[in-house]
Amino acid sequence: MSSRPRLLVLADIPVVLRERLAASLEVVVEPLGVAREEEVAARVPGFHGLLPLLVHPVGERVFAAAPQLEIVANCAAGLDNIDLGAASRRGITVTNTPSVLTEDTADFTWALLLAVTRRVVEADAFVRRGDFRGWDLNLLLGRSLGGATLGVVGSGRIGQAVLRRAHAFGMRRIYTSLERLPAAQEAELGAAWRELDALLAEADVVSLHVPLTESTRHLLDRQRLARMKRGAFLINTARGPVVDESALVEALGSGHLAGAGLDVFEREPAVHPGLLGSDRVVLAPHLGSATAETRFRMVELAVESLLEHFVAGRRPRLAVGR
Ligand code: GLV
Repeated sequence: MSSRPRLLVLADIPVVLRERLAASLEVVVEPLGVAREEEVAARVPGFHGLLPLLVHPVGERVFAAAPQLEIVANCAAGLDNIDLGAASRRGITVTNTPSVLTEDTADFTWALLLAVTRRVVEADAFVRRGDFRGWDLNLLLGRSLGGATLGVVGSGRIGQAVLRRAHAFGMRRIYTSLERLPAAQEAELGAAWRELDALLAEADVVSLHVPLTESTRHLLDRQRLARMKRGAFLINTARGPVVDESALVEALGSGHLAGAGLDVFEREPAVHPGLLGSDRVVLAPHLGSATAETRFRMVELAVESLLEHFVAGRRPRLAVGR
């Protein structure tokens, strides 16, 4: 029997990265889709390392099923699928894959922002239906971005990358975060800090870039959505539960909000029927980081963390907490 550490990989990862792992570890690849924690727990006994995706809940049940587990290398920037408290109590190292997805996620945020404010998806459907009869002064009018105000919630890497892009579109920029950025960084981004409620009242487009934690769950609840400007747009490429989805459907239905661009949903992969039925929204299946280059880099970072832990025997550079 091999005495090499055993690693369970819950995704179909590139062969070249799998081979890099297999040079030093006993690797078992068992791709798993959206799963309940029990399903993950059923697979982990006997493994020392785990490489899950953000659709795999990893907490006390998983840890109890694999008492020898040393490291969880989450293939995502977000860590809301991992119980970090339980991991730390058991001395299990947890890593994530930040930075490499910043620019692509910011690009996708803008793809949704442009698509919803300029009605690109409606326009596409209109042409395909054969409804295009010629240029029309009043056809499918959208919202001009130049001079409008973008409000970014969360000033981490992705929030900042989204703000940077807004300069090219001539938008005014405001942001909110628990801690203000240093003045030099605010100047570089051309963005002014606001309290959340003030930002919601001022922005024509609000874009969410906060992690999902107990304090950001339903950060945009019914009251906060009501504080948004009439006719404003909401973009969410962060995590679905940051927004009360039923309240959002109501705000769109009443016309209070003009539209939303949503890459994430409160109960993924389920999508609220009120969103599916609305032509005011542009929907995507959690694609923020979905480019071939970035997805490769994300897996590569997870692989590097696992090799740092098992082969170099040191705390990975991307270890969180503890
Ligand atoms: C994607 O949502 C990620 O957290 O990597």
